[in-house]
Amino acid sequence: MPRRHDALTPLTHDHHHALAQARRLKDVAKLEDEAAARNTVNDFVNFYFGRAIRHFHEEEELFFAPLVDEEQARDLILRAVSDHLRLHAMIRTVKRQLSSGDVDPELLDRVATLLTEHVRFEEQELFPLIESMIPEDDLQNLATVGRRDV
Ligand SMILES: [Fe+2]
Ligand SMILES: [Fe+2]
Repeated sequence: MPRRHDALTPLTHDHHHALAQARRLKDVAKLEDEAAARNTVNDFVNFYFGRAIRHFHEEEELFFAPLVDEEQARDLILRAVSDHLRLHAMIRTVKRQLSSGDVDPELLDRVATLLTEHVRFEEQELFPLIESMIPEDDLQNLATVGRRDV
């Protein structure tokens, strides 16, 4: 992944974790041990409702909101936010399935694929655009905002 502005580095760091979680989810189908498979899905759901949701909010509130009315950025931002909503709906279903019995492996595969594609899209297209459109002073301020203020 390319070198990121300091303001975006924590989000890029999260992306590495997200890709690792997505890979584990893809491999669930190969696990013979039912308990191990449930543990992996449970870990993923916990990752999502903890770290990933916070990550989405941070992206939306700090980096997407300032650019939503910019012609050049709007379509990419709408795609990213739609991905967030789609992932949210799908992972809520995974959580429900996990507590009521069987989890649909095809759904897990779709979640893992969408999450992986979403991260790649942000790293390759949206984050470079954000870095080029948000003025350096604003990026510097965002770099020092810290995650607690989101
Ligand atoms: Fe995102
Ligand atoms: Fe992201």
